Amino acid sequence: MCADHTSKLLQNLWDQDHAATLDEPGKLLYRSNLLGSDKRITNYGGGNTSAKVKMADPLSGDDTTVLWVKGSGGDVGTMKLDGFATLYQDKLDALQKLYRGVEFEDEMVGYLPHCTFDLNARASSIDTPLHAYVPQVHVDHMHPDAIIAIAAAEDGQALTQEIFGDDIGWLPWKRPGYELGLWLADYCKNNPDARGVVLGSHGLFTWASSAEQCYEVTLEIINKAICWLEKKTAKLTAFGKAIHSVLPAEQRQHIAEQLMPEIRGLISQEQYKIGHFDDSDAVLEFVCSEQMPDLAALGTSCPDHFLRTKIKPLIVGYNPSTNNQEATLAELPELLSRYRDEYAGYFDRCKHADSPAMRDPNPVVYLIPGVGMITFAKDKATARISAEFYTNAINVMRESSAVSIYCGLPEQEAFDIEYWLLEEAKLQRMPKSKSLAGRVALVTGGAGGIGSATATRLLSEGACVVLADIDKALLDETSHQLQDAFGKDVVSSVLMDVTDENQVETAFRFTAREFGGIDILVSNAGIASSAPVEETTLELWNKNMDILSTGYFLVSREAFRMLRRQNLGGAVVFIASKNALAASPGASAYCTAKAAEVHLARCLALEGAEGGIRVNVVNPDAVLQGSKIWSGDWLQQRADAYGKDTEELQAHYLERSLLKRAVLPEDIAEATYFLVSDASAKSTGNIINVDAGNVQSFTR
Ligand SMILES: NC(=O)c1ccc[n+]([C@@H]2O[C@H](COP(=O)([O-])OP(=O)(O)OC[C@H]3O[C@@H](n4cnc5c(N)ncnc54)[C@H](O)[C@@H]3O)[C@@H](O)[C@H]2O)c1
Ligand SMILES: [Zn+2]
Repeated sequence: MCADHTSKLLQNLWDQDHAATLDEPGKLLYRSNLLGSDKRITNYGGGNTSAKVKMADPLSGDDTTVLWVKGSGGDVGTMKLDGFATLYQDKLDALQKLYRGVEFEDEMVGYLPHCTFDLNARASSIDTPLHAYVPQVHVDHMHPDAIIAIAAAEDGQALTQEIFGDDIGWLPWKRPGYELGLWLADYCKNNPDARGVVLGSHGLFTWASSAEQCYEVTLEIINKAICWLEKKTAKLTAFGKAIHSVLPAEQRQHIAEQLMPEIRGLISQEQYKIGHFDDSDAVLEFVCSEQMPDLAALGTSCPDHFLRTKIKPLIVGYNPSTNNQEATLAELPELLSRYRDEYAGYFDRCKHADSPAMRDPNPVVYLIPGVGMITFAKDKATARISAEFYTNAINVMRESSAVSIYCGLPEQEAFDIEYWLLEEAKLQRMPKSKSLAGRVALVTGGAGGIGSATATRLLSEGACVVLADIDKALLDETSHQLQDAFGKDVVSSVLMDVTDENQVETAFRFTAREFGGIDILVSNAGIASSAPVEETTLELWNKNMDILSTGYFLVSREAFRMLRRQNLGGAVVFIASKNALAASPGASAYCTAKAAEVHLARCLALEGAEGGIRVNVVNPDAVLQGSKIWSGDWLQQRADAYGKDTEELQAHYLERSLLKRAVLPEDIAEATYFLVSDASAKSTGNIINVDAGNVQSFTR
């Protein structure tokens, strides 16, 4: 089948030798991870898998059947064994006696914890009854694009019959829950030879008697759908025809960089949002097409797609052929306010007496003809995943509207999912967000000692961080370390020389495209130099001025420009030096340039105040550990200046301090964190010395 299109088909990745080493739960996990590794099989976090496994009861030692099923949350592709809930099958069966009918189905969720096997702490998901009541031992529930394309077609049932005959059945749309579990049980009883069922507007259920067979059936059924769609649509142009041309990559990025801080500013008044830009081929084909406005208005179909992407996307008014960006930006506030009104209208039309209060009415997905798609959410992973989900939805719409008429989920059903009390309870259980959640920070000199410690501190409080540095090798090393610790989503890096106006502009535009804008600038890049004034060359003098004074000016100017466009306030911190306040022997260029930083900070505090932009200074002193400055000539020069050898120098500084303590990069990071966080919301134009006490640098 489908001989010409084998590249589009899913490949069987099952390794029998490996599987032979696994027990039943191990095989279930193996199957789940294989299925989840391909987004065509299921979207991130979507779908679930199960196996009914004979195990010894921990109390009696007797054999009992245990349902292993993916628990609440989690993702089949990346889950571990602890992601499965385990429940006594006989207790689940007994629950049927307690069922009072569909209007009470939500109460059944409360009984599930009573069925827990072996004190497993993983909460069961709402989909548990869908697996429990299918009599077959192994069950997969997936959200494959190709199947949803059929499930979301107006004549989905007829198409399912045409493609699969009696092998795969059809159940109309029903919100997942206890009732749907009973529907599945009935279906299996009446169709003992069927190998699965398509759920209208939702996805696929398949089953078999072994883990390997179940995997094979799932793949076979999805491949059959891919193949059928491929044959039907081979000669068709997707989404009608293209009515916009795709702009060149650089121009697409440029427009996204312009739009993202503006949108972010307009939608982050209640909660800070992080952005994500996607201009993949599938997205570009959709946003340039004739049918895009009509299809986008229908919203998504699969409840998973819908929950992540909101009722529908917003189409940004941009025409790539006229390229009038100013008009596009000018129109944004009105466009967004209309979207919010429409959302409030949807809420009012659909709400029930006990519905939770209306949530954030801003769009998640923004479609831009010729350019791509921007998504905004409370954190980077959510924004990125929302883009993945909308891409799944685009794939569904492409195929579905080619072979039939695509249908979104009916408005009331969509609402009942979005504002489901069980969904609300899940949201309420989410941990409180961290103090810098949703914020974006750029740290210059981010590869260095103080810079990387500061980045670490901000990341640990939930910020997204861009490291900017001139040292490529160290930048790569530092960003990999931080990505390992905090995840790839939240750490980005850009090569940038703070003295180069173009590079600085580019780095800020990069930040806008990576995360949507900026809230925090830590201007920290620096060098140290030492020479008596008679031996200070003009070159050395200028170098200090360029990197420390001019460099701090250039990055702050760019930060101010973006902060003003967002209109959300912001925080700038300069890492200056004790030497900005206290003169030091043989380092006039350095000390003077650092003093200029402090005065620049004060001027900017004055200018930024009315826009809520705070500018403060942290003055470190003698942070030897982890600092590159202290590994070069400076170390020797400072030792010479004080008539010590290099080993004695740390002891000298410690002795010189009032508190007799060594100052660490983490200490500077802590003061910086305070000054960028809301804890210091009422401070600007301030200086915090972090130097273990030094009377010369007392401020006055
Ligand atoms: N370590 C101390 O004792 C101490 C004391 C007072 C002030 N400071 C200040 O703290 C800041 C950080 O110093 P550190 O101790 O972490 O030193 P560090 O050398 O470890 O880090 C500085 C970073 O800045 C980068 N950098 C240098 N020139 C750059 C340029 N033109 N563009 C972009 N990046 C550039 C370097 O590559 C390096 O990664 C500096 O501004 C320094 O003057 C440090
Ligand atoms: Zn599902």
